Amino acid sequence: MRYIIIGGTSGIGLAAATMAVEAGHSVLAAGRDMGKFPDAQAAGAATAQIDASDPESVQRFFAEHGEFDHLVLSVSGASGAGNFRELDIGELRKGFEGKFWPQVACAKAALATLRPGGSITFVGAISSRALKPGTAGLAAINAALEAMVPILASELRPTRVNAVVPGVVDTPWWSRVPEAAKAELFEKLASEVPVGRVGKPEDLASAIMFVTTNTFITGSIIDCDGGWKLKNP
Ligand SMILES: NC(=O)c1ccc[n+]([C@@H]2O[C@H](COP(=O)([O-])OP(=O)(O)OC[C@H]3O[C@@H](n4cnc5c(N)ncnc54)[C@H](OP(=O)(O)O)[C@@H]3O)[C@@H](O)[C@H]2O)c1
Repeated sequence: MRYIIIGGTSGIGLAAATMAVEAGHSVLAAGRDMGKFPDAQAAGAATAQIDASDPESVQRFFAEHGEFDHLVLSVSGASGAGNFRELDIGELRKGFEGKFWPQVACAKAALATLRPGGSITFVGAISSRALKPGTAGLAAINAALEAMVPILASELRPTRVNAVVPGVVDTPWWSRVPEAAKAELFEKLASEVPVGRVGKPEDLASAIMFVTTNTFITGSIIDCDGGWKLKNP
């Protein structure tokens, strides 16, 4: 099978690319920054540039890269978090521009070259349902993606459509937090989740492989969050 993983050059997408190659699939990992390509290439994936927030780049990318079986959408920006009183609406808009619209635009543009029997997997975030203060904006972005999944699964049949939903996962996404502060934060967050640790990219990659290869799963939202959404006793 052939996978295209948008955001396949880092973090969760890179781990999924690695796992898919190890399972014998052909993988094209895509992102904006060519500086991130060597890791995906070392894992055995082909690489290509796309800016998923630019409609022209998205159209060109799918026109150039031919037919494939599984689309994985692991793109996000980093805007939209914060308490509602202080939340800048422009930042929330940026959050949608960095995640919701790129994932939706790629899903739509891919339809022409996605082979029958293939799948689309969105990568959401458990902020959609974790009910944590300070995450209303992130909840909105990710809940909007999740809301589309069962409807798309029905409409686009026989293409299967699912979402994999991470909790806190140790990926380069967190590199914007200084190392010492990140270690402290992860320790605190780990103590708050039932599994007692933050996630590894491979935790999510195995969930992505599960929904892409199990041909009986469609319209499903698979939480892979260590229990992050559960309330502390
Ligand atoms: N890590 C967590 O704790 C966590 C928690 C909840 C949800 N998630 C979700 O999991 C997904 C993956 O996140 P991650 O932690 O793996 O982040 P990451 O390590 O920063 O990887 C993000 C990937 O997306 C690519 N990307 C970002 N914007 C893009 C664009 N406009 N066009 C093309 N590629 C783009 C990046 O490459 P370039 O920058 O080179 O384009 C990179 O390959 C995201 O949807 C994120 O919201 C993560």
